[in-house]
Amino acid sequence: MKFFIDSANLDEIRQVAEMGLVDGVTTNPSLLAKEGKGFKQTIVEICSMVEGPVSAEVVTSDNAEQMLKEAHIVSSWHKNVVVKIPFGPEGMKVVRKLSAEGVKTNVTVLFTVSQALIAAKAGATFLSNFVGRIDDLSGDGMVAVQDTVNMVHEYEFKSEVLVASIRSPQTIVESVRAGAHIATIPFKVLNQLYTHPLTTSGIAQFTADWQKSGLSFDS
Ligand code: E4P
Repeated sequence: MKFFIDSANLDEIRQVAEMGLVDGVTTNPSLLAKEGKGFKQTIVEICSMVEGPVSAEVVTSDNAEQMLKEAHIVSSWHKNVVVKIPFGPEGMKVVRKLSAEGVKTNVTVLFTVSQALIAAKAGATFLSNFVGRIDDLSGDGMVAVQDTVNMVHEYEFKSEVLVASIRSPQTIVESVRAGAHIATIPFKVLNQLYTHPLTTSGIAQFTADWQKSGLSFDS
C-alpha cells in the first residue's frame, strides 16, 4: 500500500520525505489556507521534495468550464501535479475531459461506492474516499472503502482507491485489510505508526541485557 502525506506543511513533508516514506502528497484548500503561503509556490516546492503525485485542488465546484481552466493552471505547474476535483456532476465532466487529455485526476470528498463508481467511469486516476468524517458521525467509514476496492477489482477499473480523512493508525490497519491502493496520512498519524510500547520496552531490555553481559563485537 502506498503512503501519501496529507499536508501542505513543507517541514512535515520534508521530514517524511527524508524517512523515505512518501509516495505522494495530497493537499486541499483548507490545508493550504492553514499554511498561508502561495498556492503555486507551495505546490511547486512540494514537487521538488517528493518524487510522486502531488494533488492540487480546483476551488470551483459547480461550473465545469471554470473548473477546467483552474485544472489547466495547476497541472501546468509541474509534471507530477494531479488535479484534485470535488465530486459532482460538473466535476465529473471535467474528469472526463482531463482523462481524455491524459491529465491525472484525484476525485475527492467521496463517501459511497456509488459515488466512486461514477468517478471511476469518468476516468479518475484516484478515488479519495473519506473515512474519518463518517467515523466522526458514529458511522463506519471503512465500509465504503471496502466496497470501492471490490468494485474497482470486479469491473477492472484502472482507478486507485485512496483512503483519506484518516484520524488514527487503526484506519491504516483497516486499509491494508481492505486492500486499498493508497492511504493519505496526516503527519501526526504517520509518526504514531512507529510507536508501540512493546517495541520501546523490548529494545530497552535488549540494550540493558547486552550492557550487563560484558559482551562486545570483538569477542
Ligand atoms: C484528502 O485528500 C483530504 O485532504 C483529507 O484527507 C481530508 O481530511 P479531513 O477530514 O481530516 O479534513
